[in-house]
Amino acid sequence: MKKVITYGTFDLLHYGHINLLKRAKALGNYLIVGVTSDNYDKYRGKLNVSQSVIERIENVKATGLADEIIVEEYEGQKIDDIVGCKVDIFAIGSDWIGKFDYLKEYCQVVYLDRTKGISSTELRNNKHALIRFGIVGSGRIANRFIPESKYVSGISVEGVFGIHEDSAKAFFEKHQLAFYTINYSEFLEKIDAVYIASPHESHYQYAKQALLSGKHVLCEKPLVLSKDEASELFALAQLKRLVLMEAIKTAYCPGFLRLISLAKSGKIGEIKSVDAAFTKLVPPHVREMQSEHAGGSVTELATYPLFAIIKLLGNNFVDIHFTSCYKQGVDIFTKIDIVYPHAVASAKVGLGVKTEGDLIISGTRGYVYVPAPWWKTEYFELRFENLADTEKYYYKFSGDGLRYEIVEFLNRIGKEIYTNQDESTQIVNIIEMFKNKMVEITQI
Ligand code: CTP
Repeated sequence: MKKVITYGTFDLLHYGHINLLKRAKALGNYLIVGVTSDNYDKYRGKLNVSQSVIERIENVKATGLADEIIVEEYEGQKIDDIVGCKVDIFAIGSDWIGKFDYLKEYCQVVYLDRTKGISSTELRNNKHALIRFGIVGSGRIANRFIPESKYVSGISVEGVFGIHEDSAKAFFEKHQLAFYTINYSEFLEKIDAVYIASPHESHYQYAKQALLSGKHVLCEKPLVLSKDEASELFALAQLKRLVLMEAIKTAYCPGFLRLISLAKSGKIGEIKSVDAAFTKLVPPHVREMQSEHAGGSVTELATYPLFAIIKLLGNNFVDIHFTSCYKQGVDIFTKIDIVYPHAVASAKVGLGVKTEGDLIISGTRGYVYVPAPWWKTEYFELRFENLADTEKYYYKFSGDGLRYEIVEFLNRIGKEIYTNQDESTQIVNIIEMFKNKMVEITQI
């Protein structure tokens, strides 16, 4: 028997796939098809697959061409499969020419001509209307958004709005956008969704006007600066059937998602404590250090640690205390201590104080240790009394990570999930308590 193996995502199965499977099968008399798992696709940066691995397997099965279907779950698996299944021929489309020559050591490698004029990417783009994005602001984060958006299908960044014409124009030229403008209403007319990356104090107005004009909103952290504003915007988004989402990249990256489910799975017992830190030293003249631009460690940095705490322990805390160190009117370091009925949490943030940026989730049976930078979750350990029981987890955090939140945002538009306000509203609530000194702050 001559065994042939081929691999692919096979999303929205099309005639290009069927042609390939037919020709691969004709190379021998037993065809094994490896379909990538959802996690493996995410790991290798393919973030926009429409169908689940189960649906994709069913579609390949329905062609009647595969004698065996396996799931491809990790890098390096092809060698294991070829050796393990005693495969004679590895076949793949010509878009991969040369990439799999390393398999020649194990079997014959055949590159089959790719069928022209069809791809899953194209079908996905046709299936979901392209979302035209506009960017509010032209600073550092706005600059990161465009290269990251290129990893996601279904989005096209069209233009930029800024109050300073020179910077908006420079941004437009640098990224070769379709337009720039200093007129917000004109800007909104040309797009379907906004990404707000302007100074914090302007988020509320820009988001509100965008929602009122029927545009989806992805807004940088902190979403707004008061709980009432957050509630109002989420209610408006719901009413207008629009997506409003805070751009918390950590929340949607594969490592963090896995970390949360493992921590909550009972493996480390009941969670009793969460400690997270995020510090970033900045020079004194930057916007982050200016009180008139809502600067300071809490407004700038607390979103990440508070998100982890609220995600793990919920909203129903009974006490909160802030200890801060101030310089030029802003907190350059703050420790937030939160007490829940059955657990405690602490968040340390600093623009002028440096510390280890790790996350520790302590439970009655063991703990999770996520080394710095935990907010770009790539690696973590589950640790127990017995060192030998330690479990290590690795995930990929690609690029700047904004691609994960963009994928989530587009998914929500597609699935009509307009608001997912719980964590964002609570985070804003805590930031407001601090900013407006609604609770006592110990100064050090
Ligand atoms: N393939 C092909 N002809 C096409 C599309 C895909 O021969 N027009 C082949 C690929 O070369 C690969 C297999 O089908 O061997 C599975 O490819 P996959 O990446 O799942 O399909 P694409 O349509 O290329 O998907 P995407 O656009 O997401 O990259």
